[in-house]
Amino acid sequence: MPTMQDMTGQVALVTGAGGGLGGATAIRIAELGGDVAVLDVSAEALAATAEKVRAMGHKALELPLNLTDRTQCAQAIERTVAEFGKIDALCNVAGVLRCGASEDFAEADWDLVMKVNLEAPFFLSRAAIPHMKEKGGAIVNVCSTAAFKAQGYFSAYCASKAGLLHLTKTMAVEYIKTPIRINAVAPGGMDTVLAGEASPIFGLDPDIYGRLGNPRGMCVIEDVADMVAYLASPASRSIQGACMVVDTGEIVY
Ligand SMILES: NC(=O)c1ccc[n+]([C@@H]2O[C@H](COP(=O)([O-])OP(=O)(O)OC[C@H]3O[C@@H](n4cnc5c(N)ncnc54)[C@H](O)[C@@H]3O)[C@@H](O)[C@H]2O)c1
Repeated sequence: MPTMQDMTGQVALVTGAGGGLGGATAIRIAELGGDVAVLDVSAEALAATAEKVRAMGHKALELPLNLTDRTQCAQAIERTVAEFGKIDALCNVAGVLRCGASEDFAEADWDLVMKVNLEAPFFLSRAAIPHMKEKGGAIVNVCSTAAFKAQGYFSAYCASKAGLLHLTKTMAVEYIKTPIRINAVAPGGMDTVLAGEASPIFGLDPDIYGRLGNPRGMCVIEDVADMVAYLASPASRSIQGACMVVDTGEIVY
């Protein structure tokens, strides 16, 4: 069994791979020797990540799919297995942030956040598990410090990420007799497009949205990607149902 991070010969599906953390995760997995199926709703952003993976000498399957559609979640797994013959790791990185006062929160925003952040990881996992039950595999769910902190004006986001964390633990127990590892990563703030979606709160009450960030600043995206890749790799064989916090101290501050 490998003791160091090594993904040679491994196949990983990374969602949100057109974005900051998903893109960095796909590249990190390729650096470790893996082939990658990259999924994003933005075909253009996806193509840029896929090109970087190929430039490193690894295979990249582009999956321009929308995770709000459960059928497309299942298709993502099917197409990955059809292309590579297997799936060793599923990294659920895609996410959306919508915020604002709960009483004014649009139903469409609630639905979007729940579908992308909570439901898609479940339906992707459901489709991936039959391919991992015998040979083993890893599922890594990217939640957030928002899974632990009750943050005013982030009701849908906090609920979706707390739900994803508990989904991770529940499924880790359910599949504990199989060789599938199911874990989570909770990043703190990262300088990505998603972080900019928090701006509507700044017109609201600062006593309610409270302290954001900490004196150490934001996380380096590649550091978080490293943790996702570690949990996706066989090197994390002793870790099950855990949540690795990479947040520059945001939760403890
Ligand atoms: N940026 C932060 O401060 C921060 C903090 C904690 C956790 N996170 C989490 O990290 C993860 C990655 O976010 P990021 O910061 O890289 O943001 P990002 O906006 O750079 O990337 C998110 C990606 O998800 C994709 N996506 C959104 N909706 C989709 C859909 N319906 N179907 C397919 N793809 C879709 C987007 O197109 C985008 O490329 C998310 O789960 C986010 O909640 C981010």
